[in-house]
Amino acid sequence: MRVVVSIGGSVLAPDLEPDRVAAHAGVVDELVADGHEVAVVVGGGDVARRYIGTARALGATEYDLDAVGIDVTRLNARLLLTALESSAIPEPAEDPETARASLRRGETVVMGGTVPGHTTDAVSALLAETVAADLLVYATSVPGVYSADPNEDDGAERHDRLTPSELVDTIASIEITAGSNAPVDLLAAKVIERSGLRAVVLDGTDPERVADAVAGEDVDGTGVVPDE
Ligand code: UTP
Repeated sequence: MRVVVSIGGSVLAPDLEPDRVAAHAGVVDELVADGHEVAVVVGGGDVARRYIGTARALGATEYDLDAVGIDVTRLNARLLLTALESSAIPEPAEDPETARASLRRGETVVMGGTVPGHTTDAVSALLAETVAADLLVYATSVPGVYSADPNEDDGAERHDRLTPSELVDTIASIEITAGSNAPVDLLAAKVIERSGLRAVVLDGTDPERVADAVAGEDVDGTGVVPDE
């Protein structure tokens, strides 16, 4: 199976703890050893937010703040690359085309952000589209997509299964509420919809859940399954 795994920065390296990075790399190596083609997109997490906060206070433009964020995602990508044992791309890929070429050479791909204006959620969906992935796994810090932001709304309920267009509607209604955080951003949901991608959104703080999702096991999370 060709798999794109999106690992949030707050899941991969919240504390820059090497064991945690190694555990995520171990799961990627395990998937490769099982015969899967794997491309990983790494986010920036709290470290990126802190850098962005400082740069904003110093007067940086939004475009330049995005560039700061991208740099942090690529730093995190380098950490994961360092911990990988399988044959991998030598440097974090800077765009989906480079990632695709690398995957075709049989290398495991790791990348961070690409260009300003979106997040690694969207990069992951665009990469999954570019390489025609069989599955896109979002390893986030929340166990799935809820009807509302569970941090803001006690009545929020998790969706076990959504179609891509239901995903778009759900994310759009969460994003419209100021201050709410959706586990996957709207651009990513739109890309999933237009290409009919199969996706899973799960709590990736235990990296083994990613392996379980690829193995087709019933994981705690939200499955996004296109209509036949
Ligand atoms: P993240 O993908 O980690 O952002 O990229 P996020 O979704 O806000 O973080 P999480 O999921 O809560 O951890 C960090 C920042 O880098 C910039 C954006 O500013 C983003 O917020 N970025 C990232 C880009 O501009 N382009 C990219 O392709 C990726």
